[in-house]
Amino acid sequence: MEKFNSIIFVLLLLPLILASCTLQDQQKQVYIVYFGEHNGEKALHEIEDTHHSLLLSVKDTVDEARASLLYSYKHSINGFAAVLTPDQASKLSEMEEVVSVYQSYPKKYSLHTTRSWEFAGIEEAEGPWRESKKEGDEFLFKAKYGKDVIVGLLDSGVWPESKSFSDEGMGPIPKSWKGICQTGVAFNSSHCNRKIIGARYYIKGYLRNYGALNASEDYLSPRDKDGHGTHTSSTVVGRTVSNVSALGGFARGTASGGAPLARLAIYKVCWPIPGESKANGNTCFEEDMLAAIDDAINDGVDVLSISIGANMPLAYTDDGIAIGALHATQNNIVVACSAGNSGPTPSTLSNTAPWMITVGASSVDRSFAGPVVLGNGMKIEGQTVTPSKQENKMYPLVYAGDVVNPDVPENLQGQCLPGSLSPEKAKGKIVLCMRGNGTRVGKGIEVQRAGGAGFILGNSPANGAEIACDAHVLPATAVVYDDAMKILQYKNSTKNPTAHIIPASTVVHTKPAPSMAAFTSRGPNNIDPNLLKPDITAPGLNILAAWSEGDAPTRLSNQDHRVAKYNIFSGTSMSCPHVAAAAALLKAIHPTWSSAAIRSAIMTSAGIRNNLGFALTDEAGNPATPFSYGSGHFRPTKAADPGLVYDASYTDYLLYACSIGAKDLVKAFKCPKASIKVIDLNYPSIQISKLNGTLTVKRTVTNVGSSKSVYFFTAKPPMGFSIKASPSILFFDHVGQSKSFTITVKARTEVLAKKNEKDEYAFGWYTWTDGPHIVRSPIAVSLA
Ligand SMILES: *[C@@H]1O[C@H](CO)[C@@H](O)[C@H](O)[C@H]1NC(C)=O
Ligand SMILES: *[C@@H]1O[C@H](CO)[C@@H](O)[C@H](O)[C@H]1NC(C)=O
Ligand SMILES: *[C@@H]1O[C@H](CO)[C@@H](O)[C@H](O)[C@H]1NC(C)=O
Ligand SMILES: *[C@@H]1O[C@H](CO)[C@@H](O)[C@H](O)[C@H]1NC(C)=O
Ligand SMILES: *[C@@H]1O[C@H](CO)[C@@H](O)[C@H](O)[C@H]1NC(C)=O
Ligand SMILES: *[C@@H]1O[C@H](CO)[C@@H](O)[C@H](O)[C@H]1NC(C)=O
Repeated sequence: MEKFNSIIFVLLLLPLILASCTLQDQQKQVYIVYFGEHNGEKALHEIEDTHHSLLLSVKDTVDEARASLLYSYKHSINGFAAVLTPDQASKLSEMEEVVSVYQSYPKKYSLHTTRSWEFAGIEEAEGPWRESKKEGDEFLFKAKYGKDVIVGLLDSGVWPESKSFSDEGMGPIPKSWKGICQTGVAFNSSHCNRKIIGARYYIKGYLRNYGALNASEDYLSPRDKDGHGTHTSSTVVGRTVSNVSALGGFARGTASGGAPLARLAIYKVCWPIPGESKANGNTCFEEDMLAAIDDAINDGVDVLSISIGANMPLAYTDDGIAIGALHATQNNIVVACSAGNSGPTPSTLSNTAPWMITVGASSVDRSFAGPVVLGNGMKIEGQTVTPSKQENKMYPLVYAGDVVNPDVPENLQGQCLPGSLSPEKAKGKIVLCMRGNGTRVGKGIEVQRAGGAGFILGNSPANGAEIACDAHVLPATAVVYDDAMKILQYKNSTKNPTAHIIPASTVVHTKPAPSMAAFTSRGPNNIDPNLLKPDITAPGLNILAAWSEGDAPTRLSNQDHRVAKYNIFSGTSMSCPHVAAAAALLKAIHPTWSSAAIRSAIMTSAGIRNNLGFALTDEAGNPATPFSYGSGHFRPTKAADPGLVYDASYTDYLLYACSIGAKDLVKAFKCPKASIKVIDLNYPSIQISKLNGTLTVKRTVTNVGSSKSVYFFTAKPPMGFSIKASPSILFFDHVGQSKSFTITVKARTEVLAKKNEKDEYAFGWYTWTDGPHIVRSPIAVSLA
């Protein structure tokens, strides 16, 4: 009888419960409740209990509290992620233990491969250490190829069968390692080995937002169906594999990650957006990333490589990557992050916290020449990595805007967006499509759908002279904007325009190289205008590395059924792992160095000239500035012996956080009454925003070179300013000795009189040198 009653009770109530759930769900969001750092005294279950009881204090029932909890962060990070109403969140934020409470959604993080729509890219044949083959070999040998250094990546997973992740001949897993091999769909314990020593996945935040994972769009496991994670992982730690190439044989050579004997721990945190093609991007939830970083710290990684960023500038206290990276730094883990792909617009950087290495992207000295010959005999230089078997004859040439369906809006007519072309008009022809909207590879698929014989992808003016190469699905090449206009002019000038796309080939030792990628995000830093970011640039344009066989090289697996073991890809996503690899090798050579010392070594040894000996240029061929390249192009072999380093401790970062008003990061830490000046953080670069006349900045360098040495100051002041150091000579008599100095930056009177309203920056640099070592720091200054 009782049973019967209760059944009726449940049945009756069910619709009510559902209704109230949906109502409340509309107001409920995932919040991160952050307690700061751990005092390290409590057992894990006690921490979890504390999280539970706090959560319970704002929830009605134990079950509700349990159901709303997504993660307890309990290793290094102390906090939890839970589904809360705004009321509950605000109640929690008033509690004494709580440092901050902030909403995870609708901020959106994604992998830094595609520029929202547009930009859909270590390894170079000879490896990234090729300033000089001999130096590179010596460096790698000294670093034991990264042996026993553990590199963690937050990404889309890994394709474990790739030869780049073979563990042949590798020694036992380092004893310090505490991570796991989490199994799941198409991923069992045999997929980890002595190369892939850790694999985990994090999806609670994603599931809470999107519901179930579509099994045909990704694997519920550390396996990568996207390609991105396989590419970045093999860039850092990929084994040396001979005779590999992208589809069609492009970039054929020996592929090797930067640190080929380092170990990989993959933390899969990025997943497909349901119903969206992967070429349009993916999503990585903050609560999932925090859980991954907390585990990575506890597992024992030495370096973290994070090619992920938010689509808006985020304060440090409101940015899971910044918070996670701070805890990683506390554990002396080097954290490399991508600067973002939103250039060339200024102030577009992500990942600008001073405890990270922020990495921009530049080209390498290789191109993929795929010229077009026009009916009038004119030959236009194009670039592509499209395998092509087009018949050697002239085809009719059309402009996309002239062969569209009638309903396509005028501003999108040249774009070859899905469904826009008329098969009647485009069939059998070579179609010129312009960039600007839609993905590059998607335009090729549209031309193919319309029956085109081939296509030419024209840059928009914003892309400048830079071509990001793709493996299109039909004969294709890509041209710079001026050349696209020449093709248009020719087409307009004749009744029966024709063209032929010549199969592309790989060209090496191109000049000038490197140059800055158009897409690389630029300073000035939105979060702290007195911190120069990015820190460094590294190869990120048309990079060859391993790929997932679960996805096509275009990441359009619904329409493109090709499979590629290696693929060419572009983005700051690709440059970040280059720097992570350099950090891994430096860790192997200097195991006692702090993460700040490693970053300093990479920054102060960077190069600011290209292979013609001229200043690095941007996508338009103009001189580039530290707002795109930071301290310059990384030179890992030089970084191994930097002479001096600008060191900084975890406490220095906390003091900095106090000064910048990010006290929320550091509740357990008592901010001093008289805070240090933000600008005095011991950083290897200087940025002064709105200088009012004169400013003096403090710095300290530590000798890591020869025991007895004398360093002299030199400077190239920003135009309109003077720079003085005091003292201007530094004497060292032992390794490990530190010396402080001040730098005084003064605006010249005539400049002060002019005062620019636009907050324009002038750039220069200063160096300390003892002869063999040149320790360079860039300076950026604007006037009040
Ligand atoms: C893991 O899966 C592979 C097939 O992908 C299989 O050959 C292997 O035996 C499996 N290992 C275990 C431990 O189940
Ligand atoms: C899952 O993804 C496939 C391929 O993208 C799609 O065809 C299918 O409709 C999706 N299923 C659901 C339930 O969304
Ligand atoms: C490299 O591989 C290609 C095809 O994959 C093959 O034709 C060629 O002979 C190989 N070259 C060497 C040196 O092994
Ligand atoms: C791309 O298309 C969307 C939708 O039509 C439009 O809002 C946007 O302005 C377009 N962007 C460019 C660069 O053409
Ligand atoms: C050529 O013709 C196209 C239309 O087909 C037009 O939009 C364009 O302005 C013309 N361009 C030049 C360079 O003559
Ligand atoms: C700049 O300095 C002058 C004199 O040192 C002072 O009077 C003025 O208020 C300062 N301006 C700003 C914007 O701080």
